[in-house]
Amino acid sequence: MPDPSQPNSDPDLDSISSRISPACPPETQRILTAAWAHDIETIKKLLDAPGKASCQDPNTRETPLHAAIRACGPPTDEDDPADLERAKKTVYELLLWGAIWNDVDDRNETPGCVARRLGREELYNLCVEAGVRAEMLFGVMEGYEQLGSDVDGEEIEVVEGDGNDANGDGDGDANGDESMVIVGEEDGDEAPELVDVEGLNGRDREPVEVDSEAYLRSKLTYSDGKLVDDDGNGVMMAWETDIMRRSVDALLPGKEPGKRILNIGFGMGIIDTMFAETRPARHHIIEAHPGVLEHIASPGSKFGSSWEESGPEPGAFKVYQGKWQDVCQQLLQEGQTYDAIYFDTFGEDYSQLRMFFTEFIPGLLDGQGIFSFFNGLGADRQICYDVYTKVAELHLADAGLDVDWQAIDVDMSQLAEAGKGEWEGVKRRYWTLDKYRLPVCTFLG
Ligand SMILES: C[S@@+](CC[C@H](N)C(=O)[O-])C[C@H]1O[C@@H](n2cnc3c(N)ncnc32)[C@H](O)[C@@H]1O
Repeated sequence: MPDPSQPNSDPDLDSISSRISPACPPETQRILTAAWAHDIETIKKLLDAPGKASCQDPNTRETPLHAAIRACGPPTDEDDPADLERAKKTVYELLLWGAIWNDVDDRNETPGCVARRLGREELYNLCVEAGVRAEMLFGVMEGYEQLGSDVDGEEIEVVEGDGNDANGDGDGDANGDESMVIVGEEDGDEAPELVDVEGLNGRDREPVEVDSEAYLRSKLTYSDGKLVDDDGNGVMMAWETDIMRRSVDALLPGKEPGKRILNIGFGMGIIDTMFAETRPARHHIIEAHPGVLEHIASPGSKFGSSWEESGPEPGAFKVYQGKWQDVCQQLLQEGQTYDAIYFDTFGEDYSQLRMFFTEFIPGLLDGQGIFSFFNGLGADRQICYDVYTKVAELHLADAGLDVDWQAIDVDMSQLAEAGKGEWEGVKRRYWTLDKYRLPVCTFLG
């Protein structure tokens, strides 16, 4: 199975005969063939019912979007620009009919992964835009549910189309031919997941079963260069040290002493050690996990009670014990503001990060301050990373923030293979990309 993060192309594996299998039902075959031929008129006739645009070959799991993109092959000098235009129109038409941007085929590639591997940038961009639209819709649905349509403690909403397996795990819940029924939590706190794309949380080492409460109850182990939970998920790993260093550089340009710093999520204390070295006037840390708090309080820790007592004034250096969702309320009430804020938690989904952007940053960040967060959103697949870069950018703008993305090379030599190198003893390879996009956020205007 090819790694979607790696460019590789085998023309035979991308041929129509290898992608549309003899076992494919005739109607699906007709749609896939028309998509492959960029025959828009036929496509329009065939897509006469919801869900048909995301039909799949039962063997290859080829969708019409895969077919329309794959048919282009890699760019050549003989390419006729009119053909590419027709391919773009076909992709656009399929998306209009509800084709799913991130269904995976039998080779674990989404249509966007195929476009990227083939070097078809314009088609790739269409897939990214479709992903952004789908994710923004998810955000709207979240808002909708919060307004409440509670019927006997159960929230039910039916959404046309897009009943997708968006998590990219290929578990086949994405036939797209049914409406999607969303059943909310009894207390209505949870947003419906229209799209639960793998890796879309800032640090969701466990995308589908992300459960912050379970994580906070789990037993943690600090070992050589890693912090792992009792399920083997990497909570924090030493290979991220360079990212932490670059984040500190971006948050504290010139590293002047006397800054007011808030860090959310202690983990291995890598970034807090770097922050402490800049001799801040205020250094607040928020941490919720009892195991991490025990580690902080243990003899030999740099951030125990003697560190707290060493601050320039009482309360200036402090580890706040508890969930940031609660502690930040307290900080807001106290009127605390910071020059630099870093956010890096674990086991929480994107809705929490977004809530931090919109509900806490405007009150906690100084007008001239800088905010950054660990940007692991969708980092196990380039297209998800690109979609979430745009989604986060839109939500940051919603919170009045401008973001400058700094591209940072990630040394992949020890990160290339699951279970090997840095990933030894870690359940899931949550990072696959050779470039990290470091968000540097400041207030607009
Ligand atoms: C990835 S680690 C942070 C790593 C840190 N940046 C470093 O340099 O070592 C995430 C941390 O966030 C903590 N955390 C998770 N959920 C939290 C919450 N709701 N409130 C506060 N801390 C939380 C975890 O226990 C963990 O210590």
